[in-house]
Amino acid sequence: MRVLSGIQPSGSLHIGNFFGMMRQMIGWQEKSELYCFIVNLHALTSVTDGQLLAINTMEAAMDFLALGLDPDKCYFWVQGDVPEHAELTWILHNHTSMGLLERSHSYKDKLARHFTPNHGLFAYPVLMAADILLYQANLVPVGKDQKQHLEIARDIAGAFNHVYGETFVMPEAAIDKTLATIPGIDGQKMSKSYGNAIDIFLEKDELKRRVMAIVTDAKAVSDVKDPDTCNLFGIYRLFLDAEGQAELRERYLKPGLKYSEVKKELIEVIWSFFAPFREKRLELARKPNEVRQIMSEGAIKARKVATITMDVVREKVGLIY
Ligand code: ADP
Ligand code: TRP
Repeated sequence: MRVLSGIQPSGSLHIGNFFGMMRQMIGWQEKSELYCFIVNLHALTSVTDGQLLAINTMEAAMDFLALGLDPDKCYFWVQGDVPEHAELTWILHNHTSMGLLERSHSYKDKLARHFTPNHGLFAYPVLMAADILLYQANLVPVGKDQKQHLEIARDIAGAFNHVYGETFVMPEAAIDKTLATIPGIDGQKMSKSYGNAIDIFLEKDELKRRVMAIVTDAKAVSDVKDPDTCNLFGIYRLFLDAEGQAELRERYLKPGLKYSEVKKELIEVIWSFFAPFREKRLELARKPNEVRQIMSEGAIKARKVATITMDVVREKVGLIY
């Protein structure tokens, strides 16, 4: 089975990305044919500082490698290094209705946040559909927020198959239902672009600063508190098993819990959770050329698979003459 997912290098990767996507992906390399890539073309819809995008792309590669993604056990590459992503996107545009894209929640959300819309942002789901269909992926593990993008990809695949006959595999989304959207320190969805994230590999001082800044309600120590509406609980629980979560919940429901104490505990919990990977991360940062080499070999490997699909697509749509 082919499992595929991508992540945008639009900022440093954070614990929402880790629990929402990266951890599952790293798990899949043991049990499936895994395709994991860094979607720098998608990031162009929000990042206009070229140097920054290049840095973030390298950092995302290093984060994945440090956390255990093994390029010998999977396909791991940077989207922009395989030109077929962009080529297939153009072909798929011609099988995508305007209405489908106009209904996209992520596009509407961005509009509501007063981002100036451009065509790249509008067409974002088509590039994502191309990413998936190019590799004939069966399963796409993503966070809940990406569900509609998967539906759009299926729609586009169906439209193309309808015109040209069975060409693309229908991808399925794999969404971890037990995992609600992870809140950021301000209680909105944790996101690279909202300035509310706790990055995976922060320096300890910065980690402290971020955790201490988690917004909590104004209840007094003597009040009982509500774990289900608390950002601090929403983040802390990710690092706990069922038993640990039940214990923390108990503490919330009894008078006496101090948010500042819980925050101090959480700093240590996050620090030690990622400790086993920090050494590897530092080592990779010292050898950027090795990382570039890994990514360029990854692109060659991925491109071989992409070419198999594109040979068929080019023939069907009439680009071979
Ligand atoms: P960001 O919003 O930080 O830019 P992306 O949209 O690039 O993150 O998402 C990358 C992956 O991480 C996706 O699969 C997404 O669903 C997941 N993800 C991102 N933020 C969260 C979050 N707050 N909670 C759960 N999953 C998330
Ligand atoms: N849109 C996805 C996100 O922001 C990233 C992405 C791009 C992706 N192409 C993909 C995810 C293909 C899964 C499959 O999270």
